[in-house]
Amino acid sequence: MGAIETAAGKKLVLISGRAYPELAENVAAELNAQVLATDARTFASGELYARFNESVRGTDAFVIQSHIAPINENIMEQLVMVDALKRASAKRITVVAPFYPYSRQDKKGRGREPISARLMADLFKAAGADRIMSVDLHAAQIQGFFDGPVDHLFAMPVLLDYFRDKLGDRNDVTVVSPDMGRVRVADVWSDRLNAPLAIIHKRRDPTVANKVSMHEIVGNVEGRWCLMVDDMIDTGGTIAKAAEALVKNGARGVTIAATHPVFSGDAVNNLNADYIDEVVVTDTLPVPANCRFEKLTVLSIAPLLAKAIHQVFHDGSVTSMFEGAA
Ligand code: R5P
Repeated sequence: MGAIETAAGKKLVLISGRAYPELAENVAAELNAQVLATDARTFASGELYARFNESVRGTDAFVIQSHIAPINENIMEQLVMVDALKRASAKRITVVAPFYPYSRQDKKGRGREPISARLMADLFKAAGADRIMSVDLHAAQIQGFFDGPVDHLFAMPVLLDYFRDKLGDRNDVTVVSPDMGRVRVADVWSDRLNAPLAIIHKRRDPTVANKVSMHEIVGNVEGRWCLMVDDMIDTGGTIAKAAEALVKNGARGVTIAATHPVFSGDAVNNLNADYIDEVVVTDTLPVPANCRFEKLTVLSIAPLLAKAIHQVFHDGSVTSMFEGAA
């Protein structure tokens, strides 16, 4: 039996895609529950299949999937599971996507481009999802793409706890936003740590043709211990170049705090650069052994997800979990 049942007869079930089952197991452990036994398979043709090994009729179902490569397959698996739940009469279905897929395609930057983050929301809805839960959306407006409740969770409390312990009472910290898009979040960090803010402004170098950009730093980083915050690290290119710019401008150290470890391409090499002291991420996505390195710290997001799931199931408040966090 995987379900949690209340005296009033409400039943919660946790279902996991195959992308990162350990995360669902950790969430289940926090909730003192079990992940529902599911027969999930890929046929020789590449088509996916899922069936739950017991009844889900009338349940409050949470389908957890991590959207990492092979991302399109992992999305499809979650959709298939949602569809199976709907057809098996689950009462309410929540898509738990700790890292929202295609979140960087949230607007048309140029003509003839898709808005794939919106398409994801439409697909989840069409499959039968009633609500979505996600952590640190790349753009907050993605909440509005889904026609239904979206629980937008913030990893900041998890990361902040770690840094408060680590920083103690050192007073040379500067919070850095790696680009203009992260300024709002970095500003909250600076407020929380009572530390000044610096911003990296990427701009084209007018003296060099094509794609070369210059990293201009707004704020003083000389002699400062820089804490650079970002929502995700994909290839690590953004962070590595920004860290280099900080050190070249006199920073005494650079530490990175990011929520989603996408870690594709050359990420590990980029992050292992001399001018980066430590990289701290959460496990909204799995970090395989070949992407682990000495300077990397991975914090568990499971307690946060479990708390939010508990609140949703019991009609509690998710907002109150983050009073003033972002
Ligand atoms: C950009 O807007 C994002 O917040 C990340 O900074 C970026 O997508 C990370 O990608 P990469 O690690 O490949 O530079």
